[in-house]
Amino acid sequence: MLVLGIESSCDETAAAVVDHTGLVLSDVVHSQVNLHAQYGGIIPELASRDHLRNIEPVVSEALARASTTIHQLDGIAVTQRPGLVGALLVGVQAAKGLAWGSGKRLVGVDHLVGHLLAAYLQRSELRVETPQFPYVCLLASGGHTGLYRLESSKPEDIVELGATRDDAAGEAFDKVGKLLDLGYPGGPTIDRLAKAGNPSRYSFTVPMQAKDSLEFSFSGIKTQVASHVERHGKPTSAADLADLCAAFQRTVVTSLTRKLFAAAAREGVSDVVIGGGVAANRELRETVLAQAQKRGVRAFVPDIASCTDNAAMIAYVGLTALERGESSGWDLAATSRTALARATRKGRGMR
Ligand SMILES: Nc1ncnc2c1ncn2[C@@H]1O[C@H](COP(=O)(O)OP(=O)(O)OP(=O)(O)O)[C@@H](O)[C@H]1O
Ligand SMILES: [Mg+2]
Repeated sequence: MLVLGIESSCDETAAAVVDHTGLVLSDVVHSQVNLHAQYGGIIPELASRDHLRNIEPVVSEALARASTTIHQLDGIAVTQRPGLVGALLVGVQAAKGLAWGSGKRLVGVDHLVGHLLAAYLQRSELRVETPQFPYVCLLASGGHTGLYRLESSKPEDIVELGATRDDAAGEAFDKVGKLLDLGYPGGPTIDRLAKAGNPSRYSFTVPMQAKDSLEFSFSGIKTQVASHVERHGKPTSAADLADLCAAFQRTVVTSLTRKLFAAAAREGVSDVVIGGGVAANRELRETVLAQAQKRGVRAFVPDIASCTDNAAMIAYVGLTALERGESSGWDLAATSRTALARATRKGRGMR
């Protein structure tokens, strides 16, 4: 089986071709980061217009790099939710047009399921080991942060165990980056600067430490950094900036990893997985691998290209649906919210 994936939920226009083994034959990502950087965040209208400009060339390049044509595909998968509706619509309409014109099956995919299954992607002929269901996945991205139990790849078999009550982990990285004049997005820059820093020089409180809670909160950490800056001013030397980044990053990583392993123990699973843009973070990746080894569980840390937004993960989710005989109708619509059942209410805690 060969599936084309299309992704346009936020600020990346992406297309990829993936085969039934999860092998990524092509993976094209056009990032709009420079377009939005001057505003310090994503401007939805600009995002939609840029997707419109880029969708056709990105799809054509993905097919060319995979040395295939639309006629050789078994289906076309597209991110249908969650995200900016105007941005999602560009991908959904493009996918419908391509599927209609070529007589291929169309599959609408939940972007979050893409992040949760990204560990199944194979990016070289040297195959990597993949997780076994059931597993617990920590999804930490720009718009979402939560823990999920996956019984299978079916969306109905995915249960949110707990999520953030306020900001997503990536949002905290981006807001702290803005506070420290590091540009947008803050995550990759903080990751790079933290490498040279001393995480113990400043101490921030790890939020939501109550043992039985699998919920997160990241708005408080951002406030702690803001109060630090109010009291001491913005860091003036490279060393001070590195130490502040390292302390902030250590606090976020500690919160994420403690809850991940608490969830794995509570759920009695032996495999844990991470996904989403924040899963590209060097310290998070290293900490999850080290802690897993200590605790005797298997950790799966996808390639960085599989963590940040990409269409290969969308194609893969589409494949699993097509293999079950499922596909979408022509009434497939773009929707801002995920279809996954939620356990945590934003601002209020567990349902
Ligand atoms: N190395 C890194 N360290 C920390 N954060 C990172 C790193 N690389 C990327 N990020 C963060 O990941 C986020 C982007 O992730 P992703 O592209 O998955 O989010 P999104 O698609 O915008 O949101 P969602 O998937 O929830 O819809 C940004 O907040 C960015 O700062
Ligand atoms: Mg994403």
